[in-house]
Amino acid sequence: MNKGDCKIMKKTLSLFVFLITLALALPVRAAEDETLPHQHWQHKGILGVYDKAAVQRGFQVYKEVCSACHAMKFMSYRNLEKIGYTPDEVKAVAAQYTVTDGPNDEGEMFERPALPSDHFKSPFKNDKAARAANNGALPPDMSLLVKARDGGEDYIFSILTGFETPPADVQLMAGMNYNKYFPGHQIAMAKPLSDGQVSYADGTPNSLEQEARDVTQFLAWVSEPHMEQRKQMGIKVILFLLVFAGVMFNTNRKVWSKLH
Ligand code: HEC
Repeated sequence: MNKGDCKIMKKTLSLFVFLITLALALPVRAAEDETLPHQHWQHKGILGVYDKAAVQRGFQVYKEVCSACHAMKFMSYRNLEKIGYTPDEVKAVAAQYTVTDGPNDEGEMFERPALPSDHFKSPFKNDKAARAANNGALPPDMSLLVKARDGGEDYIFSILTGFETPPADVQLMAGMNYNKYFPGHQIAMAKPLSDGQVSYADGTPNSLEQEARDVTQFLAWVSEPHMEQRKQMGIKVILFLLVFAGVMFNTNRKVWSKLH
């Protein structure tokens, strides 16, 4: 290989490394709604990990407030061990719920306390019952809500903090509430959180913003519990590719150097 070729290869390689670095560094903002206020979330970005304390507080908010209306059918109680609860704590949480099991040897369904292996108990028997209790609107299942909405975490946080008295020219439909960030601004959910709604055991101030921030982080974790492993794997793959590219580059140079 002559010197010119070698230079071109070097240039191509550094361009390749530069492009990978650029792709990793640029935040993905493609589908986000620009009108939503942007919040800082520690779990976003290539090295971001969940704030476990916040996720645990968020579970408390979900359990004490949101779970009255919103189901989370893909979660099992034992999944809570992943955010730092001990198996005994998980057992105690599950035992607070009663689920229907069966049929038993007599062919009858029966009730029993939930076990860690059970899925989160849904607040309503079915969608029709959920609508009937909520002015005709269906509270969406929260298992994948953060992933399913444009704006993700920023959208959830904005909805929770975006309830306002409607502007004078807006006529609210019966049973609806005004929310600055909900598409169309009329939402069937009444403002679920306010200052002092939950009491945190770790002494964190329970302002509306704090509760909204915590429950949003819990919902983000629920939507993607394996995010941390995924990112670690990504970083390992990139490192491997970089080392591999270096080795290949050197090998290539050595092999061709003999043919000058
Ligand atoms: C009393 C019942 C009730 C409670 C409690 C409740 N919600 Fe809702 N929520 C609803 C209903 C009903 C809707 C659907 C509203 C609509 O479509 O107009 C909804 C919609 C939402 C939406 C918008 C979803 C979308 O489709 O874009 C978010 C976000 C949300 N709820 C979050 C929460 C959070 C977080 C909590 C707990 C802090 C909570 N909700 C507590 C009934 C409730």
